[in-house]
Order: sequence, then structure tokens, then C-alpha cells
Amino acid sequence: MKRIIHIASQPGELVLDSFLGSGTTAAVAHKMGRRWIGIEMGEHARTYCQPRLAKVIDGEQGGVSKTLGWQGGGGFRFYQHGPKVFDDQGRINPEIKFEHLAAHIWFAETGTARSTRAMKSPLLGVHNGTAYYLLYNGILGDKTLAGGNMLTMKVLAGLPEHDGPMVIYGEGTNMTNDRLRSLGITFKKTPNDIRAR
Ligand SMILES: C[S@@+](CC[C@H](N)C(=O)[O-])C[C@H]1O[C@@H](n2cnc3c(N)ncnc32)[C@H](O)[C@@H]1O
Repeated sequence: MKRIIHIASQPGELVLDSFLGSGTTAAVAHKMGRRWIGIEMGEHARTYCQPRLAKVIDGEQGGVSKTLGWQGGGGFRFYQHGPKVFDDQGRINPEIKFEHLAAHIWFAETGTARSTRAMKSPLLGVHNGTAYYLLYNGILGDKTLAGGNMLTMKVLAGLPEHDGPMVIYGEGTNMTNDRLRSLGITFKKTPNDIRAR
């Protein structure tokens, strides 16, 4: 593995192992000063790879450590995939929870991460002066079809205020385009206007 990584990459470059397995590729890449991404579908990602790679950071002396004079250092982050946002036909997965759709929309709009543990509010946040809202899954407490997932003047009045442009996702709106424009609102319809990537 050391030889392959030496031939195929320079220090600081990214090594991707999309079948992380026991994590050997990532461990060797790390000791050789490469950055790395490991993807693993099995539970051993958490129970085996994560502790193994944590030991590498702490200076574990197995494998190529002695040859490379590995003393430890660096770090990594461990992420778990959330549930699928869309099904194979491009429809929103009906099981998806507000916080997962919110995280997806926030990333699609801003290119930045939003924790699924962030405060549950229809106002997802403000990015570069624009506020992003999501009306989904009865976030306003009204789960009827014509209820809180539709943007109306009444619903708008109950949303956290923002002095600037607003992007609002909802199932529909009864407001005219002129009215939306005059209020600085870009309305986006779920699910059609949600970008998959
Ligand atoms: C033989 S191991 C790979 C060894 C690894 N490359 C290394 O350096 O130690 C194959 C791994 O791929 C994982 N795997 C298979 N299909 C996958 C998928 N679609 N996404 C993520 N991991 C997958 C399996 O769970 C298994 O742990």
C-alpha cells in the first residue's frame, strides 16, 4: 500500500477509498502525509475504522510506522450519512424529517453545512444577507395540506422577520408574483425546486 500511494500521489494530496474496509489505505495514507476520504457502509466504520484511525493519530506503531518514523498527529472527522432525501423517482422521501430536508436545502442554497441538531424553526438562517425559510412537515404546527406548508399572508406574518431578501420553500402559495416580488420574496416550491445536488 505504501508503494502504491508513493507512486500515485504527493504529500498533501487526497486519497479516496470508497470501500474503506478495515481502513488500511486510509491509515497508510495518513502516515504518509496524504489527506484522505474513506467511505464505508458497514457498522465497522464506527466500531473498527474510527478507533483504528484514532490510534493512528495517537502514534500507533504498527504497519509502516517504523519505516516512516511515524510519531502521530493530524486528525479526521467522522460523518454519518443522513436518510435519502429523494426516492428513485425524484419525489421527496415521505419519511424525511424537517431537520434533514432543512440541512439539504441549506447546503444546496449556500454551499455550507447546517447541523440536523440546529434549532427547529422555519427560518433556517441568513446567508450573505438572504434569509432562507422552509415550510415543511407542519413546522408551523398545522399539518393540514392547506395549512402551514402553504405560503399565505397569514403564514408570512407569523414567520420570524428578516429585513432583506428572503427565499421561502413551501408546497405552494396563493400570493401573486408581483406581491412576492414587492416583498423581496423568492418562492420555491417543494419538491420541484429543491436541487438534488
Ligand atoms: C475488502 S474491503 C476494502 C479494503 C480497504 N480498501 C482497505 O484498504 O483496507 C471492502 C469493503 O467495502 C465495503 N463496501 C462494499 N460496498 C460498499 C458501498 N457501496 N459503499 C461503501 N462501502 C462499501 C464493504 O463493507 C467492505 O468493508
